[in-house]
Amino acid sequence: MTLMNNYPPQPVTFVRGEGSRLWDVDGKAYLDFLGGLAVTSLGHAHPAVADAIAEQARTLLHVCNLYGTTVGPEVAETLDRLLGGGGRIFFANSGAEANECAIKLARKWGGPGKYAVVSTYGSFHGRTLATLAATGQPAKHEPFQPLPEGFRHVALGDIDAMDAAVDSKVVAAVLVEPIQGEGGVNVPPKGWLGEVRRLCDERDVLLMLDEVQTGLGRTGEWFGFQHEGVQPDVVTLAKALGNGMPIGACWARAEVADAFVPGDHGTTFGGQPLAAAAARATLAVMEAEDVPARATRAGARLVEGLTARPGVASVRGRGLLLAAELTDKPSKDVAGAALDRGLVINAVTPTAIRLAPSLLVTDDEIDEALSVLQEALSC
Ligand SMILES: Cc1ncc(COP(=O)(O)O)c(C=O)c1O
Repeated sequence: MTLMNNYPPQPVTFVRGEGSRLWDVDGKAYLDFLGGLAVTSLGHAHPAVADAIAEQARTLLHVCNLYGTTVGPEVAETLDRLLGGGGRIFFANSGAEANECAIKLARKWGGPGKYAVVSTYGSFHGRTLATLAATGQPAKHEPFQPLPEGFRHVALGDIDAMDAAVDSKVVAAVLVEPIQGEGGVNVPPKGWLGEVRRLCDERDVLLMLDEVQTGLGRTGEWFGFQHEGVQPDVVTLAKALGNGMPIGACWARAEVADAFVPGDHGTTFGGQPLAAAAARATLAVMEAEDVPARATRAGARLVEGLTARPGVASVRGRGLLLAAELTDKPSKDVAGAALDRGLVINAVTPTAIRLAPSLLVTDDEIDEALSVLQEALSC
């Protein structure tokens, strides 16, 4: 095997997808309720996205950021409109790079000495050195010490700890996920994000929201922060933006974005026409289908079905970003048994499974997934 040993052994090899279905090398079909970790929000091989990619590939794949192109700026307009307007966008290629941009922007905006970023324990912000440092999972830090300095962590939902950590002299930004995805689909207490916003306002600190997993309809609103009625200064996106095409974005209020001047930041592939064409088509379908409303409705059906299953203690999350806490079985065993029976989910913590299906998932597919899960829970 010529691949590096950084991922656990992969139990199945997929070769094809369509909508909520995947097929492996042996032709076995699966129902995909993980969506490539909240990436394929319109399902696999969506025809509008596939056509857009094919057409763009025949037109113009790439130039470089020394020159203008037309597709990326169109996507930026759409994202800015969805985010409430008045902002500017930097295109990256992944979630980690979108966050890396946010962290650099915060440092530039803060100026000398005001560079620290406060995030939460249990968070996940990426695997580059800076985003790993922002990630609130000390075990993931250990093998890579020393990490870049200037990162502090507080417990999710603990406003007193946040109050103590946000020292306006050194802290440039707070970086949080509206719902912690990789950390276990952890929803902070109602009102906490608003309190964090208030602290940031009082102390001239940026509120930066990592919406890489929660953004673009997944939680039943276009963005996770809309459930809490707060207005962030910076928002990062990736995963669902290209429906599988690698693209990330960092949005910032114009006055914050103005901290960057030419030469401060960049990336070869960011915003190139191919990835941007996928994002343009993805966003068009998302708006036409009103994916936040679909996620709310489908999520309610999934929560009801999960809650009724013996072996499920509780269900958490919002829209179609859900975790089911299990009563006794290890989540790895349940995810493995589900995979054997043709259902793709993942063990997000040792005791909870995560479900993040396509936002276009049908009622029949939800019912089918629930009955496979029932078998997996009872074997
Ligand atoms: C909230 C959040 N931020 C950042 C990332 C990192 O994104 P990427 O893997 O595209 O670098 C992830 C990935 O799971 C994520 O869930």
